[in-house]
Amino acid sequence: MKGLILSGGHGTRLRPLTHTGPKQLIPIANKPVLFYAIEDLKEAGVTDIGLILGTNMPEKVKEAVGDGSKFGVNITYILQGEPKGLAHAVAVAHEFIGDESFIMYLGDNILKSGINEFVEGFQDSDYQARILLQQVENPKQFGVAELDQRGQVLNLVEKPKKPRSNLALVGIYLFKSSIFEAISNIKPSWRDELEITDAIQELLNSQLKVDSHVVKGWWKDTGKPEDVLDANHLILDVLKPINNGKIEEGAKISGRVSIGNNTIVKKDSVIRGPVIIGENCEIATYIGPYTSIGDNSRITGGEIESSIVMGDAVIECDERIVDSLIGNHCQIVSGENNLPKGRRFVIGENSLINL
Ligand code: DAU
Repeated sequence: MKGLILSGGHGTRLRPLTHTGPKQLIPIANKPVLFYAIEDLKEAGVTDIGLILGTNMPEKVKEAVGDGSKFGVNITYILQGEPKGLAHAVAVAHEFIGDESFIMYLGDNILKSGINEFVEGFQDSDYQARILLQQVENPKQFGVAELDQRGQVLNLVEKPKKPRSNLALVGIYLFKSSIFEAISNIKPSWRDELEITDAIQELLNSQLKVDSHVVKGWWKDTGKPEDVLDANHLILDVLKPINNGKIEEGAKISGRVSIGNNTIVKKDSVIRGPVIIGENCEIATYIGPYTSIGDNSRITGGEIESSIVMGDAVIECDERIVDSLIGNHCQIVSGENNLPKGRRFVIGENSLINL
């Protein structure tokens, strides 16, 4: 069985963070969201993985993932270019997949308990596709499945205006090679994309069998800032505390806290877990629950809680920072005795400041 991870797309809902890299590299608990997909596939025994690249700085994905050896997998890069839809991405990967069964994993999705249990028995079955579903409160934002009383899939609609159920399609799918013919028979949707949801519906229209599993643990599509922060909460909830840094006497650390190499936590700091802090950081302030701080950050002021600081940051203001996503190389500082008083900003395109 092969794997196919989709790491294209524009990531418009995550601007400005996606002005400097693809959304699949946004860190969740200090690890790019894409890495969770690679690890899940490896865990399920899938080591031959195609990685779909888009137009938004694909070289950064290549740099981060390499040839896959650090994960124990083989990565083949497949250039999709413009995001013409999930089914388009699959069609572009036809040569890589060949006649094999495969697992398609959207590179911005993250699933609590991995995919092992969903993969079992698929290859030898007569099902042509297996979809994962989860109940959601906002089905209009997803592909939605309608099941009959026995749990058989009746139909699938992408982002329906009037959803017939609250069962959303999770971004992880199992396919046999019959999906390629189904894709060749569909037309672009209202958003001008070839939808994988329509291709699976096409299998159903051809009387081919489609299986479904309802996912019980949590699942997150990290397409929007609030979802990225939610995913960070969920991963930090199961954080293993490891301390490789130096904690000065007087610093107070409680709960599950992980501290990277060469990081120093100065006296008077207060860290309340779950918190992860990367390598080469200096901390001299309060860091509250559900915060991830990336490598090479100097946080000597402010109080930070429930936030992601991606890395190479300098924070030395007096403000309380909550529920925030702070990109690489950002500085948040306060000038001393500056008159006239006021907040000073140097802000890039698509930034959001909520004072
Ligand atoms: O997350 C689950 C949802 O994912 C499903 O419920 C929907 O049925 C499915 O269509 C998809 O919806 P999204 O609108 O969230 O898809 P998005 O455009 O965010 O793309 C998902 C991933 O695939 C993302 O990592 C970017 C990548 N992608 C996307 C497109 C359109 C590509 O690699 N190529 C593409 O052409």
